[in-house]
Amino acid sequence: MSINQNSLSVKRAGPALGPTSIIAVGGGKGGIGKSFISTSLAISISQLGHSVTIVDLDLGAANVHTCLGGTIPEKSISDFVTGRVSDLRAITSNTPFQRLSFISGSNDSFNIANLNPGAQERLMDELKKLPTEYLVLDLGAGTNNSILDFFLMADKKLVALTPEPVSVENAYRFIKSAFFRNLLRTENDLQVQTVVEDAMDQKNNLGIRTPADLINHVKKVNPLAGQRIAEAIDGFDLDILVNQIRARSDIDLGYSIASVCTKYFGISTNYLGYLDHDNAVWQAQRKRRPLITEYPHSRLVAQFLTIAKNLVHRQIKKAVV
Ligand SMILES: Nc1ncnc2c1ncn2[C@@H]1O[C@H](COP(=O)(O)OP(=O)(O)OP(=O)(O)O)[C@@H](O)[C@H]1O
Ligand SMILES: [Mg+2]
Repeated sequence: MSINQNSLSVKRAGPALGPTSIIAVGGGKGGIGKSFISTSLAISISQLGHSVTIVDLDLGAANVHTCLGGTIPEKSISDFVTGRVSDLRAITSNTPFQRLSFISGSNDSFNIANLNPGAQERLMDELKKLPTEYLVLDLGAGTNNSILDFFLMADKKLVALTPEPVSVENAYRFIKSAFFRNLLRTENDLQVQTVVEDAMDQKNNLGIRTPADLINHVKKVNPLAGQRIAEAIDGFDLDILVNQIRARSDIDLGYSIASVCTKYFGISTNYLGYLDHDNAVWQAQRKRRPLITEYPHSRLVAQFLTIAKNLVHRQIKKAVV
């Protein structure tokens, strides 16, 4: 299979006004399956009849092309960031899947950590204009500000984790970092930013222990900002996805995490679903073929389809309401 970049999207069908939904797959830890999940979800949504563009934002360690079963496209995000290309459609490739396009992040010399803020904002603005129904963002590991900003630009923020203590710990750290980054991006007032930064330390001297405490403190400094912070917390929702489950207790973990996040951060956290651990994943990857092509009748592929339907239906419901 090959990924064909000649096809630039002049001919691509899709909405002219940018994606109707942006899905980001994050989670603090490396190697938990973010790229595998984002690629498989992108394929599944395209198979439901929607146009999808998957973007490899793991600059410096990009590998979505391998998950898609293709070769590395010639052009990538680094061509856009360095100004060689000004239109993202010029770095968009076709994939072996109908309705699925791909923007590669591969370039050895480039890392998301050294993406300058101007280039990042430009990239985010252009992504929001792409003519595709669904935009799926594969994020790298860690909690640096660029990763968090791309995560926060999504309307469906998926936090992936595996049922291992380190992964669970990192998922909480990632959620906490995204929560505070969201508030810092909401509010420019320096005094308010200082309160939010202090609140990031759970043992802070201000006595801020809960989101309600934080809102009250910000209201004292700046009542309008307090209102904006309250709205930002209210509008922040997450989806938890547990990957590589092997036992019933692994499934239950998703419920516990969703309930802790709702209680602790006061944010709406949905348990989107779980995915089996399946040796077929590495067997397919070893052949450089997507699982969905190689084992279309596996339980794991059915699980992806269920999650994809869930995401799409939620979008349709939102559009109708
Ligand atoms: N459900 C699964 N069953 C079995 N193996 C899996 C499953 N999900 C992911 N893997 C395997 O886990 C490994 C890591 O997956 P992947 O590269 O998608 O993780 P990642 O979170 O994107 O990593 P990084 O943070 O380095 O980008 C891969 O070898 C993949 O085949
Ligand atoms: Mg990855």
